[in-house]
Amino acid sequence: MCGIVGVVRLKPQNDVTLGKLIKTCLERLEYRGYDSVGFAVLKNGELVYRKKKGKIADVSPALRFEEFDGSIGVGHTRWATHGPPNDANAHPHMDCTRSIAVVHNGIIANYAKLKDELLALGHKFLSETDTEVFAHLFEQNIKTSQTCYEAFKKAVSQITGSYALVCICLKEPEKMFFARKNTPLVIGVSEEQIFVASDIPAFLEYTNRVIVINDNELGYVSTDGKIVIENLLTSQKVQPYSRLRLIPWTAELARKGGYPHYMIKEIHEQPIAIGDTVRYNANDSALSLAAELVNSARNLFLVGAGTAHYASLTGRDALALLARKPSIPVISSEFSLFSKTATESDVVLAVSQSGETHDTLMAIRSFKEKGAKVISICNVMESAIPRESHIQLYTKAGPEIGVAATKTFVSQVSLLQLLAVRVGLLNGSLKETEASEYIKKLDEIPVLVERNIALSEVRAKELARIFKNKQSAYYLSRGTGVPLAKEGALKVKEVAYIHAEAYEAGESKHGPISLVSEGFPVVFVFSDNEVFDQMRSNLVEMRSRGAYTVGLIGKERKAELAETLDYSFDLSASDSLLNTIAFAPTLQLIAYYLALERGYDPDKPRNLAKTVTVE
Ligand code: M6R
Repeated sequence: MCGIVGVVRLKPQNDVTLGKLIKTCLERLEYRGYDSVGFAVLKNGELVYRKKKGKIADVSPALRFEEFDGSIGVGHTRWATHGPPNDANAHPHMDCTRSIAVVHNGIIANYAKLKDELLALGHKFLSETDTEVFAHLFEQNIKTSQTCYEAFKKAVSQITGSYALVCICLKEPEKMFFARKNTPLVIGVSEEQIFVASDIPAFLEYTNRVIVINDNELGYVSTDGKIVIENLLTSQKVQPYSRLRLIPWTAELARKGGYPHYMIKEIHEQPIAIGDTVRYNANDSALSLAAELVNSARNLFLVGAGTAHYASLTGRDALALLARKPSIPVISSEFSLFSKTATESDVVLAVSQSGETHDTLMAIRSFKEKGAKVISICNVMESAIPRESHIQLYTKAGPEIGVAATKTFVSQVSLLQLLAVRVGLLNGSLKETEASEYIKKLDEIPVLVERNIALSEVRAKELARIFKNKQSAYYLSRGTGVPLAKEGALKVKEVAYIHAEAYEAGESKHGPISLVSEGFPVVFVFSDNEVFDQMRSNLVEMRSRGAYTVGLIGKERKAELAETLDYSFDLSASDSLLNTIAFAPTLQLIAYYLALERGYDPDKPRNLAKTVTVE
């Protein structure tokens, strides 16, 4: 996730330069990414650009935003995806002639193929990013098009993946071009200027008049105030002002995208986070290298803490089911029991959102001392854990600000499943057709997740009212649902301060059931289709002791449990492994609304830090 902004000035202004205005907009977008910054402005037949690695406050003295004026400009604050954070990979990206400047948020999935074609045509690349491909593609299309807009449109139709793009071009200096697919982009309209940005906070202090751009739409804004929007697929023109809305938000609310908390905003960002993670990694050579290493491992250790450990447990299940590859999950802080046994033939797969968790870092160092190879799955590029790993894989969830991990969990699970499919293909556990069928279903998961968020929101609020005064709860599941139950219970402990314990449902009758009395809440995660009947027996056992039973269940099977569930979430389901992604948001929503109902701020749970850098 990155923050992008474009500004078209409609009137000359003396009080603030365009560069300064872009800087202010970028400061409001820094929550979307902060590893490098850049901008470009068009003025008097010149395109000037500046960019640098670092946070806005740190690089401002070098970039000197204030000194650059003009009538059209773009800016970018980056959260690295393709290529590490450095000056060359910072946006904007330029074409060969330095007359096009592009800022982008998202992932151009087919960039490698396009780059090869453009290299063959003689284009010279300066960065490792996917975005730079677009600048050269645009340049290439200008050669055969009547107008820059025609060339821009052609270029947009040639890329796949997710993108919010804003571009300026010296050849038509009065226009600013934009396009959107699977990642947000909005227009802000004022008397003085028109903005195109990733998010409303970018321009909220200048205007609250907003026009939303939809997926597959593109167009341009010009210095005479004209806004053109059309659908890329149908070429149908949109009346921009028919979509004009007045946003009644404060700046703080705007940073949270209109949501009251980051946690709920990030829950809603999950479809994009999963889609971007899968698209990026499916095309990344690091995934193939990681799959080879995993496949060849004598022992495979999956290391992580907290939510990352639960994601590792889903990885264990995916590797077992899709690749017949056994693995050993290790809680990071317990590494020494395991690293003692490690050899050069072993592999560690370290999972960490922040890439800085002390326990996980200590664990990988200890395994490395024994000669084991380390693959990391992190969300923050160039953080400590990837730096110390042999192979780096990245989730593409964008910055996660809420302390409770939400979108990074589902991104980790998705990436682990993608890896398991690759390993399965390598060792012959999966046939090509089976692998592509699975990937097809994985590609559909963002839609299911979106649907399940919508299905669960009101129900979770209502359940939170019912559970508000409970002291304790069980979360039970079997098979591939167990890590999900553990993650659901962790969320409730973390943000709602209710003691929630997760068990394998079959294990519950070997002790935990003695706590159950009238009204004791038990949440059953029916995500694993293979163990439905056994789960139902455990449900009946709990119900007959007076438990208040809640079920997360695929809606097709709901009727089978109508008699035994007190409360149910009837969800869109896929197969057992994929349901660990599809059902996760419901558990997060239960925790979120319980926190609110009990009067707590879910973004700042007591005693917790987002990144735990102590032993
Ligand atoms: O940054 P990491 O993924 O390594 O962090 C590990 C845990 O501290 C983290 O997952 C924690 O459990 C979550 N905040 C829980 O929501």
